[in-house]
Amino acid sequence: MARLVVISNRVAVPEGNGKAPPGGLAVAVDAAMREREGIWFGWSGKASETPAAPAATEVDHVRYVVTDLRPTEFDEYYHGFANRVLWPILHYRVDLAEFSSANYEGYLRVNAFFADRLSEMLQPDDVIWVHDYHLMPLARALRIRGHMNRIGFFLHIPLPPPDLLTTLPKHKAIVGALTDFDLIGFQTENDAGNFARYLTTTIGAATRDGRLYQVGDRAFRIGVFPVGIDPHGIRKLASRAVKSSFVSDLERSLVGRSMVIGVDRLDYSKGILHRIDGYQRFLESSPDWRGKVTYLQIAPRSRSDIPEYADMDAAVSGKVGHINGLYGDVAWVPLRYVNRNYRRSEVAGMLRLARAGLVTPLRDGMNLVAKEYVAAQDPDDPGVLILSEFAGAAAELEGALLVNPHDHDEIASAIRNALEMTITERRARHSDMFAVLEANDIKYWAKSFLDALTLPGRPMNWLSQRVRTH
Ligand code: F6P
Repeated sequence: MARLVVISNRVAVPEGNGKAPPGGLAVAVDAAMREREGIWFGWSGKASETPAAPAATEVDHVRYVVTDLRPTEFDEYYHGFANRVLWPILHYRVDLAEFSSANYEGYLRVNAFFADRLSEMLQPDDVIWVHDYHLMPLARALRIRGHMNRIGFFLHIPLPPPDLLTTLPKHKAIVGALTDFDLIGFQTENDAGNFARYLTTTIGAATRDGRLYQVGDRAFRIGVFPVGIDPHGIRKLASRAVKSSFVSDLERSLVGRSMVIGVDRLDYSKGILHRIDGYQRFLESSPDWRGKVTYLQIAPRSRSDIPEYADMDAAVSGKVGHINGLYGDVAWVPLRYVNRNYRRSEVAGMLRLARAGLVTPLRDGMNLVAKEYVAAQDPDDPGVLILSEFAGAAAELEGALLVNPHDHDEIASAIRNALEMTITERRARHSDMFAVLEANDIKYWAKSFLDALTLPGRPMNWLSQRVRTH
């Protein structure tokens, strides 16, 4: 069997502390890699003036190979281009993008550096799977170095319509470079449709069926592969975790109040400020609930060196203080706000304890917290998921209370509705969503992408059909 070589910026090298690197990518790829043999290559998490040869660790048939990056290049590639240009534009926030040629050059240089390091270890029949926006030009860099392997790309974050995408300076060298992959996968039909329109209107690609495209002498496919989770694994983790002293302490501290939870990286795309406004509107409009509910927002800091993140950090802290000052009482804090990272088991336990899960990003590729919230619930007495219609997960989780995260009144009434929902309705919504999570779990995600990459006859829209018809 061909080896699988996975490449992503972050690599979840096992450390045994139960904490995964931040974000859905590491969780998803980690689960997919555990099922297979191969190499997972990426950045070590360190910047060094003299990067040594990549360091390798082998655990359970997976070889984790990571490399340091030079501080200036890391800064240009990761902070400067990936997270100050690509991240905002791909999340529809053109207003926050800060382009500089130096950062663009640094991004290309790091992709070329990754291609050089990979060239030292690739074999001709390796199947290569590249992840996310940090590495969009990687197939082009590998092709230039003569690698003819099957190479797939999966975008974990959204892809906006061509009108927004073309505001990206040099977009043809970045987004257009995706055409050097053999398969390009997206989270939703919406993202794939936006890319399809970009291909035909901007790149001049030709297609007969909307899935197989031709540009010059290159043919490639696009497809939809919504990332899943391991629902039974999370359910088990959560039901064990509620018995732990960590979760019992939290439960005792609530003194019988209902808990509403949000768990997000502290990122402007997650809509935390809008959500807090929605909670404030709930407290305003539902005086009978004051003193009976606690909203716990867990928000580990992320990309703090980037000014837009530091600004948002300050704005959220200010708003939390304002609400607690306005509505709190000596024995009741309406909103508990923590910037720590917790173990996966602790998060699962907290999700299970919460009567409502608030997942209201302004834009999100998928949002695995939404799926984990559903999986973590007690099926006999489940909580209610309140989900942004702009999260990729909304295409699958029809049993959630869908909200427009910009509409504070809608968030407020969804919170009330969730807290007052009958058990019969909660169970029905939950079992519908759990069935979707089972049908499209993490194993299915990885298998369907890799089958599509390695068995070229496979139709590309089969997965979304399976999810819809369930
Ligand atoms: O899941 C989306 C994603 O952007 C990943 O690519 C990334 O690893 C994760 O979020 C966390 O972000 P960062 O690696 O910048 O901390």
